[in-house]
Amino acid sequence: TQGRIVVVGSLNADLTIYCERLPLPGETVHGNGFAVNPGGKSANQAVAASLLGGNVSLVGAVGADANGDMLLSSAAGAGVDISGVRASATEDTGVAVIAVDSSGENNIIISAGANGTLSPADVAVEAEAFDGAAVVCLCLEVSLDTVEAAARAGRDAGATVLLNLSPYAEIPQQIADLTDVLLVNAHEASLFLGSAAIPGSDADVSDWEAVRLHFAERGLQRVLVTLGAYGSVVLDSLAPSGQQLVRVAPIKVKAVDTTGAGDAFTGAVAARLAAGAALADAAAFASIAAALATTRKGTQAAYPQVTDVERLLASVAGAL
Ligand code: RIB
Ligand code: NA
Repeated sequence: TQGRIVVVGSLNADLTIYCERLPLPGETVHGNGFAVNPGGKSANQAVAASLLGGNVSLVGAVGADANGDMLLSSAAGAGVDISGVRASATEDTGVAVIAVDSSGENNIIISAGANGTLSPADVAVEAEAFDGAAVVCLCLEVSLDTVEAAARAGRDAGATVLLNLSPYAEIPQQIADLTDVLLVNAHEASLFLGSAAIPGSDADVSDWEAVRLHFAERGLQRVLVTLGAYGSVVLDSLAPSGQQLVRVAPIKVKAVDTTGAGDAFTGAVAARLAAGAALADAAAFASIAAALATTRKGTQAAYPQVTDVERLLASVAGAL
């Protein structure tokens, strides 16, 4: 059985130039291709979760423009309920300007547009969507007030509140307290914990014990840290002792475009948690979904179906 997932946040039109290497400050480089694709962390997360079997509602805002139409049709085409996405009367659809190099690495600048108008009032209008929801999925491309209102609505509904701390921003303690599962990459983890050291990618899982304790002190009992090509680590202070640290091994793929891989991971975790999976199992499933997402250009268009992930999951298990 699939509980419902409510994703609250951003939708962006991704304007991507592919190039040999990313430009340095002040430098101009030649690109070798350009594409406009549906993106935005929350829209990506919603699409990923839906393609992986989730029953997903998206709450957000676009402009009354062609980019907005593209985003709505991509999400709807993936099976996402878009009735909670409103058209702003004043702002254009959010835009991301993205450069992707030949190793699949990227840098991104976002202009919020309509995403900047999403407010706690929008969360209140969509109150029905939260009713009986299993998972509420959030990121930081909309205002912190909106994130907090959505987290509170999720908590009140008894849902698991999943927060992707991206793009990184300091969050008020209330948001941390309303978060059930935090999802960060290594960079975001070290920004959040300040001076506390994050172990190197090849560290032993026991080296993560101090990090688990630091997060727990900050009110975050369950944290997933993604390590790109090195897999991920599950820090679960609510698990019985001996099961609080789990390392999820990576699968090897040839990355073409890593844009939105973190969103694929987040959406996959949401889908598995909504289906009742344990956190570490959700992370193992999500690792494969995220790895597959890097093997094709774009974000939503590159996201895998549940059968693709299950096939690989079975072959990884078979190899152990
Ligand atoms: O995480 C990838 C996303 O970040 C892109 O789709 C872009 O829109 C930015 O929001
Ligand atoms: Na991709």
